[in-house]
Amino acid sequence: MARFIEEWKKTCGAGEVRLSDEGNAVVLMGWVDAARDHGGALFVDLRDRTGIVQLTFDSTAIDEAGLELAKSLRQEYVVAVRGTVRKRAGKANPNMATGQVEVLATELELFNRSLPMPFPIAEEVDATEVTRLKYRFLDLRRPPLQRAMIMRAKAAAIAREHFNAEGFIEFETPILNKSTPEGARDYLVPSRIQAGAFYALPQSPQIFKQLFQVAGFERYYQLCHCFRDEDLRADRQPEFTQIDVEMSFVAPDDVMAVADGMLARIFGELRGAEVPWPIPRISFAEAMTRYGVDNPDVRFGMELVDFNEYVKDSSFQVFSGPASTGGLVVGLCVDGGAKMSRKEIDALTEFVKPYGAKGLAWVKCSDTGFSGPIAKFVDGALKNGLLEKAQMKQGDLVLIVADKDPSIARTAAGRLRCHLGQKLLVGPDDFGFVWVTDFPAFEKDEESGRLAAMHHPFTAPHPDDLDLLETDPLKVRARAYDVVVNGQEVGGGSIRIHDSSVQSRVFNALGIDDEEARRKFGFLLDALSYGAPPHGGIAFGFDRLVSILVGTDSIRDVIAFPKTTRAACMMTDAPSDVDEQQLAELGLRLK
Ligand code: AMO
Ligand code: AMP
Repeated sequence: MARFIEEWKKTCGAGEVRLSDEGNAVVLMGWVDAARDHGGALFVDLRDRTGIVQLTFDSTAIDEAGLELAKSLRQEYVVAVRGTVRKRAGKANPNMATGQVEVLATELELFNRSLPMPFPIAEEVDATEVTRLKYRFLDLRRPPLQRAMIMRAKAAAIAREHFNAEGFIEFETPILNKSTPEGARDYLVPSRIQAGAFYALPQSPQIFKQLFQVAGFERYYQLCHCFRDEDLRADRQPEFTQIDVEMSFVAPDDVMAVADGMLARIFGELRGAEVPWPIPRISFAEAMTRYGVDNPDVRFGMELVDFNEYVKDSSFQVFSGPASTGGLVVGLCVDGGAKMSRKEIDALTEFVKPYGAKGLAWVKCSDTGFSGPIAKFVDGALKNGLLEKAQMKQGDLVLIVADKDPSIARTAAGRLRCHLGQKLLVGPDDFGFVWVTDFPAFEKDEESGRLAAMHHPFTAPHPDDLDLLETDPLKVRARAYDVVVNGQEVGGGSIRIHDSSVQSRVFNALGIDDEEARRKFGFLLDALSYGAPPHGGIAFGFDRLVSILVGTDSIRDVIAFPKTTRAACMMTDAPSDVDEQQLAELGLRLK
């Protein structure tokens, strides 16, 4: 074994051998992907992170002992091989990058054997996610995860190059922190030295990056881990990575321009996508009207249609009720959707229910006219609505949600639009980018009835709305912006408050009194009083960005060692018990 590692060096990757190397001697090292014994000759597919190449063992090239060793190879054994590149004696494989060649082995070394695999190291496997997570080190050996992780590293490198070139400086910020207000629960770490006191892990480096601006660094960025104890979903992990950015002396345009540049490079270089320059912007209000959601998927049209004015006098009470009493009747026209079956439409009705919709009305248009359960209500006014406003034509399907609460109708129709569009109208290489701006500064927390910051409490209110802070805070717009790719929020940021009196007024609007504000963020308020420059920034959800680049639905597929929806690591078994001794040192006792 020493011979190979000490004297011979890997000359290239298994996936890199080409016909132009014909006649060359190569040394390859990697894993046995498959072995086939064809009587006279033995073929072994050798795999490493660059791909797979076929090795051929026959007695004309390798000695008896080598041939015997080759015959003993099983899946995932780790080997080194020396050999000569030649044109494939058998048929070329057009599906493989190395499909025209094989390596005729002259020497073989076995580094290690392997137990049988719990699942094949293949492009696709049917093992459960639990098994895959338990053996994550093997799952990561599979080509799709290898590609995803390499894509992740490349995206990080491009982001760093971009920010370095734009004059940003990379800094680290503490992990053992005081609570940061990003709206999720904190992960707490007990202090041993000050028993009874706790650190919070950062939900984001928000306050520190603002302090870098007060300190005069002007342009900061960092690829950092953030920790949020929240309900997990496919696009949320308890521990995730942000590309965190903050700049001084800027307006929203300046932050968005730097972000546009990063996205253009990442999606251009890694996926050949043409990112619009600049990325189009729409206001929150416009997003809600046109798409029903604040993270619109702009890869397709199928925008929402407000039918209120066409149905307020309808004899169909389901429509006329909401339309004439402050509710909303909103729908969308599915191009060619008339061919959808009853069963498919029933499934859509089920789809909208979790969003609070009480039903889903539908009507089809064909050469014989309108059909479907509400066809009998398609009178002159609604007909105009369908044909003129929704631009319905023969072969189309219109789906409508009515509710006395406009936000329920809008959200249900908006989610339905995404669902249908993503199923029917997008291809794997389509990308849709949009900025959503002018978010409301505050929203009402349903449980407590109190106002909560929609972004975070350091976000600057729109200058025209300052007077509303005390009188009508729900009308105050924030200088906040989100960037949305393929219907996913991949970044969010804002211009910050740099004036301590405005900061106090915002805290007041949030029901945080001076004493609480001092206790929680005294150091920030102090900093704002010592010559804080105007500043603002953004943070990108790096895992989400990479999952879109890779084309996977779950960010678990682009995180090396992710957690389950119960925030557990199946491989290491974290979180786990600790011994009494450790608890005692921390001054803790379990209830
Ligand atoms: P925000 O809370 O919007 O802003 O977070 C920024 C981006 O991080 C991603 N993200 C997540 N990704 C995976 N798992 C999670 N649990 C998770 N939570 C958020 C999203 C989101 O757009 N400090 C501010 C930024 C700023 O104002 O500059 C912040 O953290 O893609
Ligand atoms: P009904 O009058 O309950 O028989 O409903 C007639 C049609 O209207 C059915 O197709 C229902 O799915 C649909 N419908 C019922 N409630 C709503 C609603 N709130 N919004 C949209 N369609 C609805």
